[in-house]
Amino acid sequence: MKILILNGPNLNLLGTREKTIYGSESFDQYFEELVRVFPDFTLEYFQSNIEGEIINKIHEVRFTFDGIVLNAAAYTHTSVAIRDAISAVDIPIIEVHISNVHQREAFRHTSMISASCVGVIAGFGLDSYRLGVEALSKINQDK
Ligand code: DQA
Repeated sequence: MKILILNGPNLNLLGTREKTIYGSESFDQYFEELVRVFPDFTLEYFQSNIEGEIINKIHEVRFTFDGIVLNAAAYTHTSVAIRDAISAVDIPIIEVHISNVHQREAFRHTSMISASCVGVIAGFGLDSYRLGVEALSKINQDK
């Protein structure tokens, strides 16, 4: 299985950014662990702070990957364009969040993208990504 981990804005600062919410591990460190947890899968990682680059990446992988674990970060709450990109492709996309967005500010309770995703995982720290990969694996087995 080929899975893309796609991170949105400010997630390049994981490890130094608001550590009480997002922890002190960088995503590069975590990604190395994730690759070890799934030795039979091909995992790739892409991060961008730019909405259009996230959309282009979703388009780019639509025929070559089996699924995407997407943390659209703040764009989750605002981006109709990312929602439309998710709806436009056939591969399964799982929405993930490190924090439990529902315990936070009201503006984080709304997701523009959830309805286009297969499901949502939030609040498990970086482990949310592993759970996202597990979910894609299950979907693939059930095909
Ligand atoms: C986030 C939650 C978003 O509200 C926030 O804008 C982020 C990260 C999370 O992973 O908890 O940047 O997606």
